[in-house]
Amino acid sequence: MKKWEMEYKSKLTTAEEAVKRIKSGDKVVFTHAGSEPLYLVDAMVKNAESYSNVTISNLVTLGKGEYSLPQYKDHFKINSWFVSPCVRQAIADGYGDFTPVFFHEVPNYIRRGIFEIDVCLAMVSSPDEHGYCSLGVASDYSTEAIRSAKLVIAQVNDQVPVVYGNTFVHVDDLDVIVEHSAPVPEMKIPVITETELAIGRNCALLVEDGSTLQLGIGAIPDAVLASLTHKKDLGIHSEMISDGVVDLIEAGVINNSRKALNPGKSIVTFLMGTKRLYDFANRNPGVELRTVDYVNHPMIIAKNNDMVCINSALAVDFMGQIVSDSIGTKQFSGVGGQVDFMRGAAMTLDGKGKGIIAMPSVAKKKDGSMISKITPFIDHGAAVTTSRQDADYVVTEYGIAELKGRTLKQRARNLINIAHPQFRDELASEFERRFLTTF
Ligand code: COA
Repeated sequence: MKKWEMEYKSKLTTAEEAVKRIKSGDKVVFTHAGSEPLYLVDAMVKNAESYSNVTISNLVTLGKGEYSLPQYKDHFKINSWFVSPCVRQAIADGYGDFTPVFFHEVPNYIRRGIFEIDVCLAMVSSPDEHGYCSLGVASDYSTEAIRSAKLVIAQVNDQVPVVYGNTFVHVDDLDVIVEHSAPVPEMKIPVITETELAIGRNCALLVEDGSTLQLGIGAIPDAVLASLTHKKDLGIHSEMISDGVVDLIEAGVINNSRKALNPGKSIVTFLMGTKRLYDFANRNPGVELRTVDYVNHPMIIAKNNDMVCINSALAVDFMGQIVSDSIGTKQFSGVGGQVDFMRGAAMTLDGKGKGIIAMPSVAKKKDGSMISKITPFIDHGAAVTTSRQDADYVVTEYGIAELKGRTLKQRARNLINIAHPQFRDELASEFERRFLTTF
């Protein structure tokens, strides 16, 4: 038996025993998104009564997030670095909290101890013959969390794919091992509406053959991809990808052949989709996962050619201030990689990068009424995610507004022209009140 195999055996235990190693007051982090070890998280929640003030931090979660339910509030404290739907209520009700952070800075915050980690709950593949396990669908901050945590409890899951890049950890890096086979957490593929398809078609007008793409989360990225089937030689340098990218790779539209950086490879920091995506990435030399301080670093993004970054927003004001992570004082999601990519695109060495904010022109409020997402002023208490200096293109189903280098009045006019027709007169009147000139 090899040395690592003996070590592996000596570290094996059950989930119930493993989570007893978490102590009151510990700061606990999970590996990210589809890499969240749901089996260990469940065991930790079941053991809640024996903890007080255990802080839970993570970004996107595909789990149920039961630790954030009110009955556990003395046992678990939420400090979210990106608010997933399941933790939103805890933050709104005051017993959870949120830390705004650029995604690319998370590994550095961990290294510097700004984000302290006592325990990392990780999910990894079965080890290979050399004792290396793959984190599978996440590299992002997950690899750094494993390196920095004082205690690493790992769920070894033989259904985790082996994805190349910076995803490997050695059995030596794991302190406690729990074997449990389970499907990798999946994200439901959103149904694309007519409005999203129209937004996708408008975004596609800004994508040239040979462009390198970054796509955010949700239905709009999939709608954009559906409008790109006639393009050639597209590349991927993206925080995440979902199933839509697989269609375009299989169709030969995305081949990464003209990428200036990492040609021939789709470079991503995490994968989030269905089993189809995870199977596609398994042992596929065309897909590489790198840590988020590489993929999302604006200076790395800037080395790509014809970079087109597409993300979404909740609201945009007349000046082009982009609100993407809060609705008034309510923390809705997080900064994620939006600013990383907006800035990276602006810094591209070829000077051709485009930062696109793509969103429907209207949203439905809780009371069922419609509001314009293009607004004269941001809501009281809302946070600006992307500043007006960083804003570049805003796209709705009604067209494209160019903002870079535009004056306040030009910005407002360009934005009102792509607002929903039902709100344009009202917005034009606001324009006249504010700028003391005719629209
Ligand atoms: N005022 C009030 N409510 C609004 C609103 C506004 N201006 N805009 C949207 N909403 C509501 C919607 O009606 C919807 O409500 P529902 O959940 O009850 O249906 C909800 O907010 C979500 O809106 P939707 O347009 O469906 O959001 P989405 O899932 O497409 O996500 C963002 C959009 C902006 C929240 C998301 O892209 C995000 O979190 N971005 C920030 C991080 C980022 O860009 N990362 C990029 C790299 S992955």
